[in-house]
Amino acid sequence: MGRRLCPVEALKEVHVSTTEVGRHERLAEVVPDVLAAIHEVLERHRVTEDEWYAVLRFLTEVGRADEFILLSDVTRTSVLIDAMSHGADDAATASDVEGPLYREDPPWREAPVKVYEDYEGMGDGEVLFVRGTVTSTDGAPLRDAVVDIWQTGPSGGYDVWDERQPDFNFRGRFGVDESGAYEFQTMLPKPYTVPTDGPVGRYLEAVGQHPWRPAHIHFKVTAEGHAPLVTQVFFPDDPYLENDTIGAVKAALVRPLERHDGAERGLDAPFVTCDFDIRLRPLAAQG
Ligand SMILES: [Fe+2]
Repeated sequence: MGRRLCPVEALKEVHVSTTEVGRHERLAEVVPDVLAAIHEVLERHRVTEDEWYAVLRFLTEVGRADEFILLSDVTRTSVLIDAMSHGADDAATASDVEGPLYREDPPWREAPVKVYEDYEGMGDGEVLFVRGTVTSTDGAPLRDAVVDIWQTGPSGGYDVWDERQPDFNFRGRFGVDESGAYEFQTMLPKPYTVPTDGPVGRYLEAVGQHPWRPAHIHFKVTAEGHAPLVTQVFFPDDPYLENDTIGAVKAALVRPLERHDGAERGLDAPFVTCDFDIRLRPLAAQG
């Protein structure tokens, strides 16, 4: 009684027995509205029994395929929840959707940080150095910050989709220096399609929605006393910036690329750099 649980945790704890009926206030408040909205749509479209059972079979398949996060993403529900959860705070770096491709316990990478190993299939991918400073919203450097990134390789896929890549390729956690500065060597990601071989792929085809996402790098950044930040960085001139299938592009997160001659860093090919400063919101300022 009185303990606030998120609805998901509450569902794990609510056991309805013949002698005691649990009631979770937040669920009791939201669920009737969810049902009213669903019922209204079913009535308005005169949805048939066959159609409704097809919906139930589809949702069952989504669960079995572990694609509910993906479904939330492509229906732009994740973006809505992100916007309501983090709001607009110009002082802090904008948050963004985490997506379903994060893997727990990525490797710790020591400086100079390189988040990938060369692999067959990387082709003519461009080397990219991403760099910036992690500070509090007042500009103070956060020396204990930990940056955790994950992205696709230049062959267009995450390590979990691409057998040619070593495990945890293009993933990694690392620290910052005394001034809060970080830098990591990666390769410029490319646009990719979300998985289309499961029930969500069939859904996208059925509603006529393309499966493409613009190239991006995912970030999770943490520091003592500050709200953790989950976000993504995008790059200009991507064909899907205006039409991301999960609708997650924010103008402030599109960061310019600068091209350099390889000789500047002793590389045998030109490379690109991207500056991305990260500002975290102090927990006390959250109210
Ligand atoms: Fe992604």
